Order: sequence, then C-alpha cells, then structure tokens
Amino acid sequence: MSGSRVFHRQLSHSLPTAVSGRGITLTDAGGKTYLDASGGAAVSCLGHGHPDVIAAMHAQIDQLAYAHTSFFTTRVAEELADLLIDTAPAGMSHVYFVSGGSEAMEAALKMARQYFVEIGQPQRRHFIARRQSYHGNTLGALAVGGNAWRREQFEPLLIDVTHVAPCYEYRNRHDDETPEAYGQRLVGELSDAIDALGPDRVMAFVAETIGGATAGVLMPVPGYFKGVRELCDRHGILLILDEVMCGMGRSGSLHACEQEGVVPDLLAIAKGLGGGYQPIGAVLAQGRLVEAFGQGSGLFQHGHTYLGHAVACAAALAVQRVIQRDGLLAQVRERGQVLQRLLQQAFGDHPHVGDIRGRGLFWGLELVADRGSKAWFDPARKLHVRIKREAMAGGLMVYPMGGTVDGRCGDHVLLAPPFIASEAELADIVDRLVPAINRSLAH
Ligand SMILES: Cc1ncc(COP(=O)(O)O)c(C=O)c1O
Repeated sequence: MSGSRVFHRQLSHSLPTAVSGRGITLTDAGGKTYLDASGGAAVSCLGHGHPDVIAAMHAQIDQLAYAHTSFFTTRVAEELADLLIDTAPAGMSHVYFVSGGSEAMEAALKMARQYFVEIGQPQRRHFIARRQSYHGNTLGALAVGGNAWRREQFEPLLIDVTHVAPCYEYRNRHDDETPEAYGQRLVGELSDAIDALGPDRVMAFVAETIGGATAGVLMPVPGYFKGVRELCDRHGILLILDEVMCGMGRSGSLHACEQEGVVPDLLAIAKGLGGGYQPIGAVLAQGRLVEAFGQGSGLFQHGHTYLGHAVACAAALAVQRVIQRDGLLAQVRERGQVLQRLLQQAFGDHPHVGDIRGRGLFWGLELVADRGSKAWFDPARKLHVRIKREAMAGGLMVYPMGGTVDGRCGDHVLLAPPFIASEAELADIVDRLVPAINRSLAH
C-alpha cells in the first residue's frame, strides 16, 4: 500500500503525480513528460490546456458556476443542446445532460423503460446487449455490459440481460464467409434471441457502435448495423447506441453511427463531449420518444444533482466549437490514415500483433502468442499490464487491456490520440510504442 489516503484504483502501487498538461503532453511532479496517445481513456480530444476551452470555463465560472436544474435552465446548457441537436443524427430532438458515460447509459436504459410504460407497453422489460461490451460501471450499465471479468463478483446485483455475440471479425468470421454474410449471421443470432424472449417483451438492443475499452476497437462489418436497425424496427424494439468512447469525432465523423448509415433511438455520448475539461455526458433522444413523455406523464422520472452543470456545459460547448471552427473532423480522418500507415509499418509483420483495427484516431492492436493460430498469451502473464508499465517508463500513455477475447483471455492496446496531434507526434507515439511492446514481450 502506498502512503496515499486516496482510495486509488489499485491499492498496491503508487502513481506519478500529474502537475500540468499542454497539447498532447502531460508532465509529472518529477518533470517527466508523457505523450498522451490514448487521451487518458479516449477522453482528451483537444489535448490538454486548450486556451479557448479554459477561457470559456473561466468566463462561465465568473458569471455562474451552478444552478440546480429543477429551478433553472442556463443559457449555456441551451446553447450546447442546440449545437448537439443541429449536428445530431436525423430525428433527434432533445439532449439529456449528465456527468459521464455510465450516467448516460443509466439514463438511456431508464428512458427506454419509461417510454414503453408511457406508450402502454409495460410488458417490455428485457434488454439485449453484446458480450465483450463495456457500458460503464454503475449497476445498470454493468448489467448490459458484457465483460465477464467486470461483471463476475457483482452478478447477484445485476438485472437479467441477454447477451449475444459482438461483431468481432478477426476471431469470429469464418474463412469462407464474407464480412457482409458474417454481419447477417450476427443479425440472425440477435433475431433468435428476440424470438426466445418474445418480441413484444424486449425494450432495446444496446451496443457500442465501435467496441472500445474491453474489446480493443471492434469495428462493425458492412451492413451489420443496418440489419440490426431493420430487425429492431420490425419488432418495435429501440436501438440504443453507446458512443461514449467512439463518438464525438473519434472515428472521423461526429457520430460513429453516421458511417454505418443508421440512426439510433437513443445515443449516449460523453468523453470527447467535454474532452476531459469537465465531467459531462449526454443522451440524445428521438423526437418520437420525447413526445411520448410529453403526451404521457410529462416528466422523465430520473435526475441527478449535477445535471447540465453550467461549467461542464461551457467546457463542452467550447470543445465542440473548436472542433467545428478548426475543421478537426477532417483532420481526424486525415491523421487517422497517417496513424494507420505508421501502425502497419511498425506492426504489420510483427509476430505478436495479430490484428490492427480502427478508424479515424481510434485504433486497437490485438496481441497474440501466435499469428497463425491466433492463440493468446497466458492471462497469468498480464501482458497488458507490462505494456502499460513499459510505455509509461518510456514517456507514453496508451490504454492496454486484458480479456479481449472473452473477458479473461487476450490482450490489446488501444490508441486514441488527441485530434490535434501532428504527424510528427503520431510518429513519435509509434516510435515509443514499438520498444514498449517488445520489452513487455521479452519478459
Ligand atoms: C463505451 C463506453 N460506455 C460507457 C463508459 C462509461 O463511462 P464513464 O467512465 O464516464 O462512466 C465507457 C468508459 O470507458 C465506455 O467506453
């Protein structure tokens, strides 16, 4: 145990103390610098110390830091909602502000349930989600999440959710199957799960558009989400997309679902919304759903003390305005191609990198003991822990995780650099990642 009184995530080891951040670099109390190649956990989309965001926060604090949402709205929350709806997928009419990703998912799950109560279908009570997914650590979000290790000890506290296969092409597409056929096979599995529960008893299908933290950037195959959307529509089931990690520009479009050609009923966002400058998340809701609330009970039976916090909204508004003003979505697409090329050059022939996958500035490397058989490393080796340690020693922040394959086996490294990273900085990131991975493998 370290001498710290903070209940840290890990009680056994001490952490460096972060003291400042500028651009894509963080500095610790000893003066050591770290390139932030993962934006923490895919959060810091504008890097650190962005002057426009800081100025907007200062201005808001000087005027009004907080007003409870049962008494007041604020100009800044209204402006942020307008911006988010102006740029939202078709049909979205309202934004429900919360303070992070798990809260966004909790709100989305409860909105789905109350919607069906409002429209006279209270028998709908089941969620279907996917294995290997991560939707947050609060109990509802954990219940829809499909990561075996995270769920295990809390299982007695979790609502019953049906889990189907993730879209995990590297491991689960058959050799003789096209990506499209694989996607349709997955849709068929979802259809079977809906039939087994009873189509009129299912509330929603819940999925990350691109599987993130626990799966190492699992990309949807072409047509998969269109098939899912059609199936949900056929049965009056809602589609809840979790873009807490992959959304808000990370994949090269503001919302990842735009590139899949689907519109969800509820869309959860967080992380890149406020870029780490303030804790903020949100649920974007289809007008049809909001109308049902309006014509029914007239209230969403939910709420937290810090909903729509004025300083959080000011930070998010500034982050989103900078992204628009500086054309950063185009930059994500362009720099994403640079990063892809660099990763391919460095790891394309690496004997222990089985898959390099991603889009925009959101990339995952899946590590394998053997590329031919795709065998994973013994989980007891904790390769992902070593990689994080070696990377930090080399002044590099990446986001490695274990349990890639089934919640227990497999390792991956996730990269999510700030949208402002230059080509030279991306090259520096990959130059530092190579020895970090190789040294970890040598142990
Ligand atoms: C897809 C997804 N959903 C939800 C969450 C939970 O967000 P938070 O940690 O802000 O509660 C995360 C966090 O990593 C996430 O990646």
